Amino acid sequence: MQRHLISAADLTRDDAVLILDTAEEMARVADRPIKKLPTLRGRTIVNLFFEDSTRTRISFEAAEKRLSADVINFTAKGSSVSKGESLKDTAQTLEAMGVDAVVIRHGASGAPYRLANSGWIDAAVINAGDGTHQHPTQALLDAFTVRRRLLGRDAGLGQDLSGKRITIVGDVLHSRVARSNVDLLHTLGAEVTLVAPPTLVPVGVDTWPCTVSYDLDSALPKSDAVMMLRVQRERMNAAFFPTEREYSRRYGLDGDRMARLPEHAIVMHPGPMVRGMEITAEVADSDRCTAVEQVANGVSIRMAVLYLLLGGNEPAQTRTEEK
Ligand code: CP
Repeated sequence: MQRHLISAADLTRDDAVLILDTAEEMARVADRPIKKLPTLRGRTIVNLFFEDSTRTRISFEAAEKRLSADVINFTAKGSSVSKGESLKDTAQTLEAMGVDAVVIRHGASGAPYRLANSGWIDAAVINAGDGTHQHPTQALLDAFTVRRRLLGRDAGLGQDLSGKRITIVGDVLHSRVARSNVDLLHTLGAEVTLVAPPTLVPVGVDTWPCTVSYDLDSALPKSDAVMMLRVQRERMNAAFFPTEREYSRRYGLDGDRMARLPEHAIVMHPGPMVRGMEITAEVADSDRCTAVEQVANGVSIRMAVLYLLLGGNEPAQTRTEEK
């Protein structure tokens, strides 16, 4: 494992399988009455969020607390960033406080890379989403969810996703989730298909390790998992499709379309979901939809990443008598 987690593309197959296996150990902590390990006692982690978040921010905080770290939460709103303070000065303020790790979400693609490689801080840097670039812990929790659902909790240990067919649907152009998932799923041996309107497919996608289709109905019967993406209106400066209704008609997942999936296939969504746009309530609330499970898995994955990056001095294994 490298010292920082900036991009899913930086992970080898063995790194990724180690994180998924460690997350299975961490998930056992959630099954206990007292959901806590002493692993990161005395370590300080700051959650530095310059962009809005519900799932990622809360699950990092839960993961840090379950590992007994001291946690500092920072949001740009209400901080000196709103007075014009730079990322460098913010970072140096954190360094002066002696933090061991920084979890950063930023609207600018590349901000976590800059923080990790600038020499401004010594702390480990974990990317919690940067612009349209990467969201590596989301890709890891998605891979964890696919492995658990398709291979099984115990049978999946030590395994990658060789031969599994994952279809990612929607606003690929603005999606760090799509980019991270293409990188990680390919590393883990899965076959990835992107389905999107031509206007929401990034330039240069032909160099990505995946195939591209514009026809959702033909991709669904060949999918073991279908991952729906939110249309990111906040990042759009033009009209990328005629109307929401037209988008939903061609690229939304409703009950009829879900019926085209193989019986074992799952429906995923990173959240937040826009019900009625990319996914209907019928699908979102169905047993096949793993959106809530993905959130729970996010805590286990983030515990595993923090444990492996910060080199906790307690074993990851939960003791038998504590189970
Ligand atoms: N999936 C995800 O990153 O959600 P949040 O924006 O709520 O963190």
